[in-house]
Formats: sequence, structure tokens, C-alpha cells
Amino acid sequence: MDPRFRAWRGVGTGALALGAVLALSGLPIVAADSVTAKPVTFAKDVAPIFQQKCQECHQPGSIAPMSLITYEDSRPWARSIKDRVTKRQMPPWHIDKTIGVQQFKNDMSLTDEQIDTIVRWVDAGAPLGNPNDMPPAKPLVSDNEWQAVKDGLGQPDLIIKAKPYTMPARHQDVWWRPVTDIPVAEARWVKAVEIRPSSLLGRKIVHHAVAYLVQDNDPDSINRGTTERVGDPRPGAFNNDDLTGRRAQLMEWAIGKGYDLYRPGTGKLLLPGSQLSWDVHIHAVGEEIEDAVEMGLWLYPKGQEPQHRSYLVAFQGMKDRASLDIPPNTISETDGFTVLKQAAILENFQPHMHLRGKAMEVEAILPDGTTEVVSYVGNFNFNWMTNYIYKDEAAPAYPKGTIIHVRAWHDNTTANKSNPDPNQWVGWGDRTVDEMAHAWINVTYISDEEYKAWVDEHKKAPGARAQQ
Ligand code: HEC
Repeated sequence: MDPRFRAWRGVGTGALALGAVLALSGLPIVAADSVTAKPVTFAKDVAPIFQQKCQECHQPGSIAPMSLITYEDSRPWARSIKDRVTKRQMPPWHIDKTIGVQQFKNDMSLTDEQIDTIVRWVDAGAPLGNPNDMPPAKPLVSDNEWQAVKDGLGQPDLIIKAKPYTMPARHQDVWWRPVTDIPVAEARWVKAVEIRPSSLLGRKIVHHAVAYLVQDNDPDSINRGTTERVGDPRPGAFNNDDLTGRRAQLMEWAIGKGYDLYRPGTGKLLLPGSQLSWDVHIHAVGEEIEDAVEMGLWLYPKGQEPQHRSYLVAFQGMKDRASLDIPPNTISETDGFTVLKQAAILENFQPHMHLRGKAMEVEAILPDGTTEVVSYVGNFNFNWMTNYIYKDEAAPAYPKGTIIHVRAWHDNTTANKSNPDPNQWVGWGDRTVDEMAHAWINVTYISDEEYKAWVDEHKKAPGARAQQ
């Protein structure tokens, strides 16, 4: 078997293996370091972790189903908490910790030690301990101010509001896709961007939001990024040889995300006549709520325009739409290849699949033949369109001619809990019951000289970029 094959079944992160062992034994672990360890209590050990990694979402008025603030709130959920944290489903951070880039701007995951602490707490009967050990309560979210304003960036230069949506008390999830004009009279460069629900109440229903830039009038930013396939009568059939989709996404947002401040010297270009195309995942919570998601934009002052423009590219994980062919009760694997026509820095990884999506890997095949895994998500969950944003210093650069190889796995069996019907054949399509397979990656194109300078600075041998 190809040694690079990483079947989704083998999501063998250290923590996962630990979780599996613990789940099997159902006993307090007897690892060497914990034999001597002091008993774990909620007040002393667990509450600080929940404050740091859970309460942003698990507080009244936020998106999670229950609060994890007090001992009384948390105790009834102990078993479920152990289950979710050992499987690394909660917090929603599903990237493999053993391979590829490991430094992220928005990492919300638990450390192995934190998981170990929570598991030992649950296994010990979830004791409170001494209430005097409780850390001071973390302030709840009580205003809807921009995070960037709180961090000193000043008020946004531009606020763009989506058309409001009224979510009834009870309803299935909605993906709300309005389009809004961007009111700029001349080209302007964006330095930072943030999305928020328009009210505190809206935070209950807005699960996440994505905003794409629509610039049909910009030849450099072809939305679909692909030429039509010659002779193929199907609408939208695309040419495999031209998969350089350049769709300038402005931002993806979920609770806890904050804002995107682009790497110095880099920005998104707004052109007159552009529009924002929204994709907002809204969830009913038992009361009728109206919200209009809005975007704040901080612009570069005129005369200080950045040298580099970044593009959102949909690197396909299939050869063409017809090749996404998922029979009933099977696990399928597809892959796609895209050549970088210019040297580039990859800034993030956001796997995009639907309900059957199970795993996705991005691999770089360098012109000298070496390969390396850039990122791998073995535990994909459609509910959470997590965007893994690399730290500036960890974002890998690749030379012109590098092939970005994306592999996607879909699980159309009963083992996939999100699967609405394993007896259906599934193919490519827009509906959530259809499938897709691409990696959204923000690409900053650089010159060959800049690429050389990057390699010198990072002292990376070809093929060892992502291992940091
Ligand atoms: C980014 C927001 C967010 C963060 C951070 C987060 N959660 Fe959640 N959590 C949710 C949402 C939303 C759900 C319900 C949907 C789902 O299960 O995916 C949930 C579900 C859960 C459940 C399942 C509840 C049930 O119905 O059985 C548990 C347990 C849980 N979270 C524990 C945690 C713990 C422990 C942490 C921190 C270590 C945490 N979560 C961090 C948003 C979050």
C-alpha cells in the first residue's frame, strides 16, 4: 500500500489513542505520571479549562445546547463531556495533531494534558472539590462590540449588513445566502475583516457565516476560476486543466473566531461594483429570532496599498464533478491535482464537504519530486466548517510548479452518524444531501525571488516546509 495513504479510519492521534484506551478500560488511567497525581476536582482543575476552552460557546445565550459555567451546570454532562473531548469532537477542532502544519492563529483545541485532566475528573466521579478553589468567574459575553475594536484597531471603515433572516422557534437548519452590494467608489485594500451577528440575541442562532467576494468584473479574480470544458454540454462542467479557482473569500466566522488581520503587506482588493455573497448557517433554538449578519472592514489608508493580493482558491479533491461517485453503503476516496503556476504561501486549510464528508488531506508534490502533507483532517464534521488558519510564521511556501494534491474520503455507511440515508447513491451537488470535495485555501502569490528569500529565512529543505 502507498505508505502515504492515511485512511480516515486510522485517525491515530496520540490523544485519540489515549481516549480509546480510556474508553475501553472505563477506569482511572494508570499511566506513570498519574499514579502519583493528586485527585482532580472541578473547582481546582476542570473549571479553568472550561473557562478557557468551552464557555465562549457554552454559556446562556450562545450557540451550545448547555452552559458549562458552574459545577451544577456541568455535572450532569460529565459522561458526554468525556466522550466528546476524548474523540476530539469538542471543542470543534478536528485537524490531525500528528502531521503537517501545527501552529494556528485560531487554535481552540485541548492539550493532551487537559483531556487527561477532564477524563480523570469524570472517572473519579466528577467531584466538585473545595468550592474555594474555584477560579474567579469569567465575564459572560454582555455586548456585541467588534473584537477588533476591543483590541485597538478602531471602528471599522466600512460595515456591510446582510439581509435579515427570521428564524422560527422550531425549524430545520437554514443556509441563508443573500447577496449584498459593497459600497466602494474606487479600489480599496482590506487590512482586517470581522463578521458578527447584528445583536447579542443573534448569537444564539448564527452558527457560522462565510462571506465571498463576487467580482465578475475582475479578470484576475474569476469566481469559478475555471474555463468551461470544451464540448461538455452540462452547465458548469469545468476543465480539469484549469483548476486555479480564484474566488476571493473575505472571511469565515464562527463563535469564538474574532477577526482576520492579514499578514503585513498583504490584503484583499475591493473593486467598485463588487458584491458580498453570504452563506450563513442558522439554527433554531426554541424562540423566534431575527438577525442580520454584518461585516466590519478595516482598510489600508490610501497611498499605503500592500504589494500582495491573496486569493481564496478551491483546490479540488476530485478530477471532475462526475468522478464524485459514491455508491450506497461504501466509503469512497477521490483526489484532485492543481499546479501552482506561481510560487505561493498557503495561509490556511478549510476542508469543504457535506454530510458524508469524512476526511481530507492536502499534500504538496514539489517540482523535485519530494512530497509532504500540509494538513490532514481525519474527523470531519459537517456541522463545523472549521477553518484552520496557519500562523504567519508557520504558513508554508512552495515554488512555482508545485502540485497541490487533495484527497477526500466520503463515508456513505451507517457508521457515519451524520448520514441521512446510506442506501442512497450520492454525487456532486449544491444541496447538503449531495456532496462536494474541495479545500478552501487562501493563497498569497509571491515572486521567485521572494520564494528564495523565504526558503533562506526558514532554512527549510524542499519537502520539509509543513513540519513545524
Ligand atoms: C465554538 C463553540 C464551542 C466550543 C468552543 C465548545 N463547544 Fe461544545 N458544543 C457546541 C455546540 C454548538 C454543540 C451542539 C452541536 C454539536 O454537538 O456539534 C456542542 C455540544 C457539546 C456536547 C454534546 C452535548 C450533548 O447534547 O450531548 C458536549 C459534551 C460539549 N459540547 C462539551 C464541550 C466542552 C467540554 C468544551 C470545551 C472543552 C466545548 N464543548 C467547547 C459548541 C462549542
